[in-house]
Amino acid sequence: MTSAKDREALWRPEITPLQFVDLDRVEQIEKECYGLPWSRAMFAGELIKSSSICLGAFRLERVIGYLIVSLFVDDWHIMNLAVDPAWRRRGVAGQLLNDFLARSAGGRERGYTLEVRKSNEAAIRLYEQFGFKARGIRRGYYLDDYEDALIMWRDNSPEPGNEE
Ligand SMILES: CC(C)(COP(=O)(O)OP(=O)(O)OC[C@H]1O[C@@H](n2cnc3c(N)ncnc32)[C@H](O)[C@@H]1OP(=O)(O)O)[C@@H](O)C(=O)NCCC(=O)NCCS
Repeated sequence: MTSAKDREALWRPEITPLQFVDLDRVEQIEKECYGLPWSRAMFAGELIKSSSICLGAFRLERVIGYLIVSLFVDDWHIMNLAVDPAWRRRGVAGQLLNDFLARSAGGRERGYTLEVRKSNEAAIRLYEQFGFKARGIRRGYYLDDYEDALIMWRDNSPEPGNEE
């Protein structure tokens, strides 16, 4: 009999950098997830930026989730994160974030930030699990319904002996 841990390992997605060829599927998921979906040009713009990390979660070579993060000066900005509704609550977003944090670890950046709808409890809980804390509000940030955005931050811990 397989344990819950074995079963999790069996379906665990592969996390690799997104390619242009993945964008048809990414666009499909994007439209299912957001009222104001990103355009293909927005995704393509991130793929060609040397300051962005664009990761896909793949199950049997099919995209089931993605994470787009961009470096602005000395902060990483989480620009987009979405998981196919059929694959939610199985740790896919968590694995994307873990993989990204491992890739970006060790840099001199101050930390990580993002905006999230105030009503998006699922995402807020996810980010809290990863050490993000609410630090402010952008009033009327979302252009479809003018919902407020919560601004969340996760600081990089200073190196021992290097605290300001
Ligand atoms: C938010 C989102 C990316 C989460 O993806 P996911 O793969 O289902 O998340 P995970 O399975 O990795 O969940 C990790 C943790 O997040 C929290 N979480 C995720 N979905 C949740 C939900 N529906 N309700 C409450 N908490 C939730 C939980 O703390 C969960 O840990 P747990 O399962 O051990 O309780 C997904 O719901 C999604 O694509 N939503 C639409 C797009 C979106 O809102 N993106 C974020 C924009 S800022």
